[in-house]
Order: sequence, then structure tokens, then C-alpha cells
Amino acid sequence: STVLVLNGPNLGRLGSREPDVYGSADLDELRALLSASAPAGVTVDLRQTDDEAELIHWLYEAVDAGTPVILNPAAFTHYSYALRDAAALVTKAGVPLIEVHLSNPHARETFRHTSVVSAVATGVIAGLGFDSYRLALNYLTSPR
Ligand code: DQA
Repeated sequence: STVLVLNGPNLGRLGSREPDVYGSADLDELRALLSASAPAGVTVDLRQTDDEAELIHWLYEAVDAGTPVILNPAAFTHYSYALRDAAALVTKAGVPLIEVHLSNPHARETFRHTSVVSAVATGVIAGLGFDSYRLALNYLTSPR
């Protein structure tokens, strides 16, 4: 089985972007960490885009294939109703979607306190750096 790990805008710069907030490790290191912590037989398909349409199309892919999703919507979190509606398609189809954040948006600027995605996510994990993703992967790959 596969878990999709989708990352939104500016996360391609992870490692050099505001390392005080997001850490100094990049997406390749995140991919390696998640692949190493995935149980046998689980493939981690980690992607990043700055393009809202591409992210939405990846969520359709998850709906059609029934693939669980770990989603860091980055700044889209705070204002993209289009992304929220696509995330709702996933969870309404019975496919789990965990919203994750590296930082704790609630401890930051006021505009980050609102997530338009959270209400349609299966769950939310924030503020734990790469562990936000690792714990989401652990949930999605544990028997329930
Ligand atoms: C983020 C938090 C968002 O507010 C921000 O726009 C990001 C990253 C996080 O992972 O902490 O790009 O989603």
C-alpha cells in the first residue's frame, strides 16, 4: 500500500527557509526518515508543489485510488477553500487525511491561527517538526 505525503507552497525550500522555525533538514531527509519508519510493504510517496491546482489534483488521485494522505497545506491552510473542498472529497470518501504542520501555527501570527482545512481533516498534528509527519504515518499504517 501507499501513503501520499503532500506538501504545499514554499516547503520545497525546507532546510534553508527560516531554519529557526522549520529546522535545517530538507524534504529529501523527510522522505528518507518516513521511508525508513514505514512498515514493510508501505510505500511513502512524498511530493511538494507551489501550485494549488496540482495539490488539488493529487487529492483527487487519493480519492480515486483510496490512498491515505498526510497533508501539509503550508500557507494554503489559512485561506484556500478550494483545497479544503478537495480535502473534504478525500475524507467524505472514507479515506483518512491527516493535516500536519512542522511549526505550531497557534503560537505564531494571528493569520496562522485559522485553518480552513482542519474541519474536514481526520486529525491534525502540529508543532512537532518531522515528528508531526512520522506520527501521522504511524497512525495511518497502524491496524484499526
Ligand atoms: C506550515 C505553517 C504555515 O503557517 C506556513 O505557511 C507554512 C508551513 C508548517 O508546516 O508549520 O508554510 O504549514
